[in-house]
Amino acid sequence: MGEARRVRITETVLRDAHQSLIATRMSTKDMLPVLERMDEAGYWALEMWGGATFDSCMRFLDEDPWDRLRLIRSRIKRTKLQMLLRGQNLVGYRHYADDVAREFVKRAVGNGIDIVRIFDALNDLRNVETTADQVKKEGAHLQLCISYTLSPVHTLEAFAEMAQRMAEMGADSIAIKDMAGLLSPVDCAKLVRAIKERVSLPIEIHSHSTTGLASMTYYAGLEAGADIVDTAISPFSLGTSQPPTESMVAALAGGELDTGIDLEKLLPVCEHFKKVREKYKALLPAVAGVNINILRYQIPGGMYSNLVNQLKEQNALDKLEDVLKEVPVVRKAMGYPPLVTPSSQMVGTQATLNVLTGQRWKVIPKEIRLYFQGYYGQPPAPVDPEVRKIAIGDEEPITCRPADKIAPELAEARRAVRAWSLQPEDALTWVMFPAVAKDFLPRRFGRVTKRDIGFGDPVDGMAYPV
Ligand code: CO
Repeated sequence: MGEARRVRITETVLRDAHQSLIATRMSTKDMLPVLERMDEAGYWALEMWGGATFDSCMRFLDEDPWDRLRLIRSRIKRTKLQMLLRGQNLVGYRHYADDVAREFVKRAVGNGIDIVRIFDALNDLRNVETTADQVKKEGAHLQLCISYTLSPVHTLEAFAEMAQRMAEMGADSIAIKDMAGLLSPVDCAKLVRAIKERVSLPIEIHSHSTTGLASMTYYAGLEAGADIVDTAISPFSLGTSQPPTESMVAALAGGELDTGIDLEKLLPVCEHFKKVREKYKALLPAVAGVNINILRYQIPGGMYSNLVNQLKEQNALDKLEDVLKEVPVVRKAMGYPPLVTPSSQMVGTQATLNVLTGQRWKVIPKEIRLYFQGYYGQPPAPVDPEVRKIAIGDEEPITCRPADKIAPELAEARRAVRAWSLQPEDALTWVMFPAVAKDFLPRRFGRVTKRDIGFGDPVDGMAYPV
């Protein structure tokens, strides 16, 4: 008879859930009052940083993302803190130099992150190499992600092979990252088994309820041997967010997959976020139901709504069906990239251009030329050579790791922020978001006095030694 094995829960309300439902607008002060209760709930981890939260803190909330991390850490004593990192893109939108990538991981772990979850949009593991190596050097938990997608080249064998390579890179666990909610229960069970046959690492499943499949997918994945699932406390669950934590805990209680979490302990967490939800009501999607088009066209929800918006702006919503049919054509020519930031935007824009101009590849945006030049990494399958020729002519694409082409950036950033730096982390903020940082960093002076985070006082606007 099988030993009862404990299933673990990662709570996403502090990151993905509000990124998915209210455009990443939850402020730190909406989080702080409930943190001690969350720490007692028995979660495996709290996902609370990275992804879009970093940018959103400064751009929309006038908050220092590093302060958020330290404030949360100071109140969470027992539960692991997890962040999402976009490989060499860190928490920004381009590839950064290795010195920046290493320094970022060092500071993130140094300020309190326990688990670093890393993915690359193309599943090109060279793009996660540097950050993964640094996570190991810092002694934190390295979780590497499979960006899940459907295509002729994304076979069980290919994913299992990828998991094997991740184990060789020192991964402490593997996440199946299903950003679109396309992973079906049947496929999830097969995938978990295929990976478990190759590696003995814990597997975490991350999905979204967009298509209505996620709760079933989690159950099937857990039965097949997965160890951890990502859920969101009910007021911030479902729709484009994760399945509800309370339901998952209740569903598994008393069986071999019991989470060990006491439902009663989730009540104060739920009560708190009900109030927070009320506050951000205006940002919530009008309908949180299932989007059946995501299943039909196998594209992420965000990409679908972007396409609709782009076409509306062009007064061409009647072309939606044509554009949706063009998406697989473009994706195939580009070597089947998973549809996640930034490839989802690229594929969607090119499909729209192909339809609206009435001629395929007549207009090609700069990002897509860079893609064909190899600057995003290696696509999962070879690109269409004819399309590449149209895009970049006879130019040879680079075949090295893209970051090998980027000169060190940290020294220059440190010089740039010297006048209004309060902490060494500011140089990183500057590299990733120079435009936002230019306003944000100086604005902190005059309002920052002694902080309650134990990092000393800025003296007369002098920079800390950086
Ligand atoms: Co997600």
